[in-house]
Formats: sequence, structure tokens, C-alpha cells
Amino acid sequence: MSNSILMILIKPWSQALTEALPIRTTVFVHEQGVSPELELDEFDAAAEHALAYIGSQCVGTARLIQRTDGKGQIGRMAVLIEYRKQGIGSQLFNALLEQGRSKGIVEFELHSQVLAIPFYERLGFTPQGEIYEEAGIPHRNMILILK
Ligand SMILES: CC(C)(COP(=O)(O)OP(=O)(O)OC[C@H]1O[C@@H](n2cnc3c(N)ncnc32)[C@H](O)[C@@H]1OP(=O)(O)O)[C@@H](O)C(=O)NCCC(=O)NCCS
Repeated sequence: MSNSILMILIKPWSQALTEALPIRTTVFVHEQGVSPELELDEFDAAAEHALAYIGSQCVGTARLIQRTDGKGQIGRMAVLIEYRKQGIGSQLFNALLEQGRSKGIVEFELHSQVLAIPFYERLGFTPQGEIYEEAGIPHRNMILILK
């Protein structure tokens, strides 16, 4: 990625759908074996979606849900496999944290795949509670309270 400029845009689902959905399908359905019916849910419509672009190509996505209890929930974080480990996931994440912060959200929660816990710990999240199964994959809740 050294010669390419990364750009992160935040879009509503109506505009994000055509770019985010193919990435989520590639990563969650084809790579991780999640069933396609579980991939889309009722939260997409109201969520804000961060999209990572290298040039005109969308290579990653994540979403922020503002929950009724006031907390922000970040999820559906996916970067195409050939673009991983270059900081794109972290930048998507930070863009959504900033977006949440600008709306007054101070507490964030996410359902982390157990293998991804170290990734979220580096972003400041703390694991909480038991490990459970979601979409056939072991998960654990993680929280971050902004100071
Ligand atoms: C999670 C994900 C979005 C991170 O994207 P990324 O662009 O690679 O993120 P970054 O480059 O900012 O950080 C990568 C670091 O997180 C670690 N990491 C992230 N997800 C991981 C996972 N599922 N398993 C193991 N390590 C993971 C990487 O090993 C890497 O660590 P390193 O720098 O010490 O090598 C990407 O790995 C992905 O799409 N994974 C598949 C989907 C997924 O598991 N989503 C998370 C659901 S909770």
C-alpha cells in the first residue's frame, strides 16, 4: 500500500450497500462460512458505514450502530484478505469511533471473534463476560469507555 492513498468515507446504508455488501459476502460468507441470511440484518439501514478506498476500489468496511441505550456498537468489520495487516482495519475503526464521539457516544461495545480480541485490545477495548457462539464462531463482548 506504500504508493496508494487510503481514504475512509462514512456513508448511510443506501449509499454503502453496493460496495459494503460484496466485501462482507466475500469475507464473512465465503471466507468464514457465515450463512448469508445472518450476514444482513435489520440494523444496517440505520447504521453508519465506514468504507475504505484505495483509489476507487473499496477494500474494507465496518458499521456503527447507535443503540437505544446510547451506546455505540461497532461491527461487520471486514477487509479484503489481500489488503490486511496494513492498518486499514484500525483506520476504519478509528473513523467510526470518531463519528460516534462527534455524536456524543462515550461507550462502545462490540462482539469480537475470539481470534480478533488482540486486534481490538490494541484499539483500547477490554474483554467482558463469557465466550459465546454467534454465527457459528466463538465471540466475546468487548467494551471501550472514552475518557
Ligand atoms: C479484522 C480485520 C478487519 C482487521 O483488518 P486489518 O486491515 O488487517 O487490520 P490492521 O492492519 O489494522 O491490524 C491487523 C492486526 O490485527 C490482527 N488481527 C485482526 N483480526 C484478526 C483475526 N481475526 N485473527 C488474528 N489476528 C487478527 C492481525 O494479526 C494484525 O496483527 P499484527 O499487526 O500484529 O500482525 C481483518 O483481519 C478481517 O477482515 N478479518 C476477517 C473478518 C473478521 O474476522 N472480522 C472481525 C470480526 S470481530
